[in-house]
Amino acid sequence: MLRQLPAITDPNLLVGISTGDDAAVYKMRDDMAIVSTVDFFPPIVDDPFRFGEIAATNALSDVYAMGGKPIIALNIVGFPVDLPHEILGEILRGGAAKAEEAGVLIVGGHTVDDAEPKYGMAVTGVVCPGAQVTNAGAHPGDALILTKPIGTGIITTAGKQERVSADTLERAVGVMGELNRKASEAMMSVGVNACVDITGFGLLGHLRLIAEGSGVGAQVHVSNVPVIEGVPELLDMGIAPGGTHRNLESLGGIVDWRDDISEQTQILLADAQTSGGLLMAVAPTKLDALLDALSDAGVQTRAVIGEITERSADTPAISVVP
Ligand code: CO
Ligand code: CO
Repeated sequence: MLRQLPAITDPNLLVGISTGDDAAVYKMRDDMAIVSTVDFFPPIVDDPFRFGEIAATNALSDVYAMGGKPIIALNIVGFPVDLPHEILGEILRGGAAKAEEAGVLIVGGHTVDDAEPKYGMAVTGVVCPGAQVTNAGAHPGDALILTKPIGTGIITTAGKQERVSADTLERAVGVMGELNRKASEAMMSVGVNACVDITGFGLLGHLRLIAEGSGVGAQVHVSNVPVIEGVPELLDMGIAPGGTHRNLESLGGIVDWRDDISEQTQILLADAQTSGGLLMAVAPTKLDALLDALSDAGVQTRAVIGEITERSADTPAISVVP
């Protein structure tokens, strides 16, 4: 839809809407650009405080994916007038807790009457012009690093159907509520070629943005992809969100499923994530330094899930191997 808007030619707009990147980057001065993004959605868990935490973490993530430092945020709220106000208070407290953890000031916001609650933030951050990390810089030979396990879409869908254990749901809430701050800071300390955060398009959908943005291909090794404990059992039960199935359909012609990649694995790799990890493409010479920096920063998941390949026009951009 955004492509229908008039094209922007301002030279200070370093990253705009044309490239499918996570956030816009606008140069203010030679030593400073602002990073601007917005994200909000309806509750994905019952607990309003945890929902607030997750929505804020997710909104901040697009700044972290660009290598920016978020500074200020505005709350965006939709809320039914007939629901108890205490619920809204809990949502906002959850968002404020994550903003504080991130060192971000919530400086305002706006609320509208809505049929179902929605919450998120518009976030403004800063980055040094030219240092921003986009989806367009990956090179053949780069390693692909993922910093959170996947499967949150499948788990939260099972949660809505009351078909998931409290333990599994809690694991997903923990994953979604973890800021990508440390991963982003480690990334910027080493320098990578491309990055996206994994959200609604799923792991392969976001990898596709890197492949198309950079004019490269990619190979993913399924056995190296980190998955939240409990997800395979839910896949066995046939549980997956509608958005995940749509993601998988949209990968037709884009992904070459090698050997015997099961349909369940295909669904998993297309699973629509909320507040997922960062997917980075790093030069092989910097891979060890990046893994060390992530480890030093306390990032628990730092999986090398595949590599960037040459793009050839007559084969699918992404291949998935066992
Ligand atoms: Co994003
Ligand atoms: Co986003």
